[in-house]
Amino acid sequence: MASSLPVITVDGPSGVGKGTVAYQLAAALGWHLLDSGALYRVTAYACNQQNVALEDHDNVAAVARSLEVEFKGADSGEVLVFYRGEDASSAIRTEEGGRGASTVAAIPAVRAALLQRQRDFLVAPGLVADGRDMGTSVFPNAPLKFFLVASAEERAERRYRQLLEKGESVSLPRLLGDIQERDERDRSRSVSPLVAADDAIVIDSTKQSIDAVFAMIMRDVHKVFPELQPA
Ligand code: DC
Repeated sequence: MASSLPVITVDGPSGVGKGTVAYQLAAALGWHLLDSGALYRVTAYACNQQNVALEDHDNVAAVARSLEVEFKGADSGEVLVFYRGEDASSAIRTEEGGRGASTVAAIPAVRAALLQRQRDFLVAPGLVADGRDMGTSVFPNAPLKFFLVASAEERAERRYRQLLEKGESVSLPRLLGDIQERDERDRSRSVSPLVAADDAIVIDSTKQSIDAVFAMIMRDVHKVFPELQPA
């Protein structure tokens, strides 16, 4: 994969705030955004719609290969995810959707099926890629890589507050258990496990606001890309 187009990778476990930071970064630079987790989420969702069991690896991979997914920017600035022409954004962004995504993401043939699709997001003027293996497997030559971390307790509490704001009733211990289980599955899978690239800048966001993390990231962006001006 030799491309001269710039890409910045933002990896880390669930609930670490990388989605928000990646979104803000892409907006600030006027670059494209790849939310790779959404591709795994839509794969699990599509399996559900097509009655394919997540244990049936061959058919899950077939679903991933023929995934009819489209990303569209909404007026709110949010990125909407369409599956077969229907807005599936809310349906895939549930706790259950996250569990399904983590399960299909552990299947090597699914990761292989989604690899080129992810690389195709790299078009001018540049890309911010958010996920687990952006800096290690999908864009190993990226000139700037971030890996965000935060304690599981902090991530569970952030998620708890978000869900409460949305009016969903949730249990904090259950959220923490889910996060720990998902971390374990994402870290221990045989292909592209969740791990920081050797050349990634690791940022611990446990005691930091998103704004503080974003400011740190922007300082590195300006060091590596001095020619860039905010969009
Ligand atoms: O970022 P997210 O929470 O939407 O991701 C959902 C799941 O998808 C996550 O538990 C692991 C998996 N995933 C992955 O394995 N590789 C990626 N690049 C992105 C997500």
